[in-house]
Amino acid sequence: MELFKAPSLLVLVILSLTLCSSTSKSVANSMSSSHNPNKGAYWPSWAINFPPSAIDTTLFTHVYYAFLSPSNITFKFEIDHPTALLLKDFTTTLHAKNPNLKTLFSLGGASEESSIIFSRMASSRETRKSFILSTFEVARKFEFDGVDLDWEFPQTPTDMKNLARLFHEWRVAVKKEAKATGMPQLLLSAATYYAPEISLNNIYREYPVASINKNLDWINAMCYDYRGSWDVSATGSPASLYDPNSNVSTSYGLQAWIKAKIQREKLVMGLPLYGRTWQLKDPNLHGIGAPAVDVGPGTEGQMPYVEVEKFNAQNSAMVVFDLSTVSTYSVAGTSWIGYDDYRSIALKVAYARGLELGGYFFWAVNGDQDWKISREASRTWTL
Ligand SMILES: *[C@@H]1O[C@H](CO)[C@@H](O)[C@H](O)[C@H]1NC(C)=O
Ligand SMILES: *[C@@H]1O[C@H](CO)[C@@H](O)[C@H](O)[C@H]1NC(C)=O
Repeated sequence: MELFKAPSLLVLVILSLTLCSSTSKSVANSMSSSHNPNKGAYWPSWAINFPPSAIDTTLFTHVYYAFLSPSNITFKFEIDHPTALLLKDFTTTLHAKNPNLKTLFSLGGASEESSIIFSRMASSRETRKSFILSTFEVARKFEFDGVDLDWEFPQTPTDMKNLARLFHEWRVAVKKEAKATGMPQLLLSAATYYAPEISLNNIYREYPVASINKNLDWINAMCYDYRGSWDVSATGSPASLYDPNSNVSTSYGLQAWIKAKIQREKLVMGLPLYGRTWQLKDPNLHGIGAPAVDVGPGTEGQMPYVEVEKFNAQNSAMVVFDLSTVSTYSVAGTSWIGYDDYRSIALKVAYARGLELGGYFFWAVNGDQDWKISREASRTWTL
C-alpha cells in the first residue's frame, strides 16, 4: 500500500523552489546556476559485491574512495599491497569508464580513532607537513584527482583553529606541487557536520568558514544521521529537510552555512542512500516520533536503500511520504524504517539548487537500487 500525503511531485518541486527563492536572488537566477553541479558519491572499499566497475559513471561527477587513514605515528600513509591494488583499480576503472569523472580518496571516516589521529596530526606544523606531502604521494602514485578530509569531527575550538591552518598549508602546497610537476592542481575537499557550528559533548566549536572559502574546492555537508539507533525511544526521520520542532534538519544546516558566509557554490548537500530502523512499541502508533523500544531490522538499525525496497516488498509494508519533514517511512507490523525515496530526494535536490549550492553527494553509492535515486537526483538538478 502507498499513501500519498502530498500533491504531485512537480507542484512540490515548484513550491520548494519558490520557498527557497526568498533567500536567493530569484528563481530565474537560480536556474542559471544549474550547470556544472557537483554530483558526488562515496564508494566504500569494503563493498566487495559492488566493485568500482558497477558504478554508473554517467550519473556522477566526483566519486570518493572511502577510506584511508594515516599512520598514528608518522601521519603518513602506509599502503599495503591489497589496498594498493584496490586504489589502482578504482581510479583506472572509473577514468576508463568516464574520463571527465574526478576521483578523490577520502581520509578518515566515522571512527573515533581517526578523529584522534587527525587532532594530533593537525596540532603542529611538522606533522601537518608530513601528512600533506604523503597525501600528494598517494594521489600521484594512484592517479587520483584529489583528496577529501573526512574528520568526524573536530572536538574543540583548538581543533578548528588547527583545521584552518591545515587547509591553508595544504592549499599552498597543492599550488606548489602542481607548479613543480606540471600536473593540474589536486582537488581539496572536506566532509563536514551538517551545520557550521557543533555543540556535541557540550563543547561549542565552529568550522573555519573563511579558511574553507579560501582553501578548499568544496565541502560535503553530511546532512543525515539526525536520528538513529542512539535513541530508540521514538521513531525519527534520519535526514529530514524540515523539522518544525528543532534545528536538526537539512534546511537549518544549509541555511546556517550560508549565514556563516560560505560561498554557496562550495557547499554540497549530503543525501543518504540508507534508512534507519526502529521497533515500534505499538504497531497502531506508527507516525514520525511514535514510541519505539529498540532498533528494527537491518544491521544495528541501519539498512541500505536497496534493502529497504526489498523489505517493503517482502513484508507488504505501508509506505508513507511525509511532506512536513520531506522524508519517507515504511511500516510493517512493529518494524519502522525512516529513509529517503525518489520523492524526498527530488525535493531536496530542488531545494539545494534553489539555494544555488554547488551540488549534492550520496553516502554510499552501493545503496541505490538500479540507480533509481541517483538518476532522480541528477535529473532533478537539470530539470
Ligand atoms: C597507534 O595505533 C596502535 C594500533 O591501533 C595503538 O596500539 C597505539 O597505541 C597507537 N599509538 C598512539 C601513539 O596513539
Ligand atoms: C535554532 O537556531 C536558532 C538560530 O541559530 C536559535 O536562535 C534557536 O534557539 C535554535 N533553536 C533550537 C530549538 O535549538
